[in-house]
Amino acid sequence: MAPVTNTPPEVSILHPKVLLFTAGLTTSIFLSYRFYKRYIRRIRNYLDLTSSILNNRQSLYGYVTSVPDGDNFRFYHTPGGRLLGWGWLRSIPTTRAALKDETLMIRLCGVDAPECSHFGKPAQPYSQEALQWLREYINGRYVTITPYSIDQYKRVVARAQIWKWNGRKDVSAEMLKRGIAVVYEGKVGAEFGDNESWYRKLEAKAKKLKRGMWSLGKKLQTPSAYKKLYVNN
Ligand SMILES: *[C@@H]1O[C@H](CO)[C@@H](O)[C@H](O)[C@H]1NC(C)=O
Repeated sequence: MAPVTNTPPEVSILHPKVLLFTAGLTTSIFLSYRFYKRYIRRIRNYLDLTSSILNNRQSLYGYVTSVPDGDNFRFYHTPGGRLLGWGWLRSIPTTRAALKDETLMIRLCGVDAPECSHFGKPAQPYSQEALQWLREYINGRYVTITPYSIDQYKRVVARAQIWKWNGRKDVSAEMLKRGIAVVYEGKVGAEFGDNESWYRKLEAKAKKLKRGMWSLGKKLQTPSAYKKLYVNN
């Protein structure tokens, strides 16, 4: 057996091994920060939505806590999803008090659902159908949103997608197919991502097949016409 002579190597700050180690450490700190930002840090409410999230079209995974209207819902961000313990190790609050300031109000991009009755205005036909359908489809489930912008009511205009047995579904598109929403007609805050032409095609098809509100034919009043009518009331 050869005698073990272990003379410690000279260690200088510029030694290649030290440099390599420092570079590795810096990289891993940087990567774990990126990982933290992407998968661990929770977006509590619209104030946490940075322009980099909006501009990079970063998608967020979360849980739908309520559906108050035919084209919007409350979203509780659960970064990392079940993998990081959401729904089993970490619970999603259920009470109104615990959810206060902890959700994003999402406005579905690219569509308008018929208006429910508000402040004594009559409800539009198919408004209940739209609301009921959306509740059944997404309430109490996990969805992926892609936030595009924040509107004048501090709602987050976003694309919403959900996994169903037959694949990933775009919620706005599903409503258009069923004739329970029309393509968004407003001039301000119109957001379609890259899906405007697709949405218009789906709307045209639903119209042709007289699905949902399109069965009303000429009697159909679009949500935007309805809003104009009641804008001063
Ligand atoms: C909808 O938009 C997404 C992302 O912006 C894009 O990847 C996708 O191809 C679009 N879908 C259709 C059917 O155009």
